[in-house]
Amino acid sequence: MIKSILQDLSSTGKALALPNYFNLDMDWNHVIKILDDLSRSSQDKDFISNMKKEGFQGIGSLFHKDISYFQSLFHIKSSDPKIKYIIDTIYKDLDIDEHLIPNTAQSFVNVLGGEYTTSKHRDNWGVAYMQIIGSTDWSIYDQLDNKKLIQKTTINEGDLIVLNKGVIHQVHAKTPRFAISLSLNDGKGYSNEYID
Ligand SMILES: [Fe+2]
Repeated sequence: MIKSILQDLSSTGKALALPNYFNLDMDWNHVIKILDDLSRSSQDKDFISNMKKEGFQGIGSLFHKDISYFQSLFHIKSSDPKIKYIIDTIYKDLDIDEHLIPNTAQSFVNVLGGEYTTSKHRDNWGVAYMQIIGSTDWSIYDQLDNKKLIQKTTINEGDLIVLNKGVIHQVHAKTPRFAISLSLNDGKGYSNEYID
């Protein structure tokens, strides 16, 4: 069902927002515990070699300059059971081929609200982004005229937003946030293009 909606959307360059897709009811104490676990698991040699095999660039966690933005790669299998369950459900609902499901996912934290996170860009993979705490504003731009805003949507706790490969997007953290992003890769590796 979701897969066919995404196929219909692919010619429009728009994203699919699915409000109230899940309910995790997670607080910041739990998030900090998860991040602590992630940072330990990301030092594991097997995890690192797996991640490299899947074509992810960089290892472990990354703080961005001048904003309170922290990004971390983690091993889905060893993640928090509640999170793992939701991730498995998303891949199933999106009908992703078993062999294209990566072992690795990404988490995003902004400690402060009101920050832009990544500048306008397109990724060469599809994205399923789950908002666990806080809210983000997503701006989607036209594929051919990347200055033309074609969609603006707010993603709140429990919402999922799914982007086809190549959709031009910019994300703004409205509030402090914790989110997880899943790759919908077609096996062609990872690269992205920043537009401005
Ligand atoms: Fe992106």
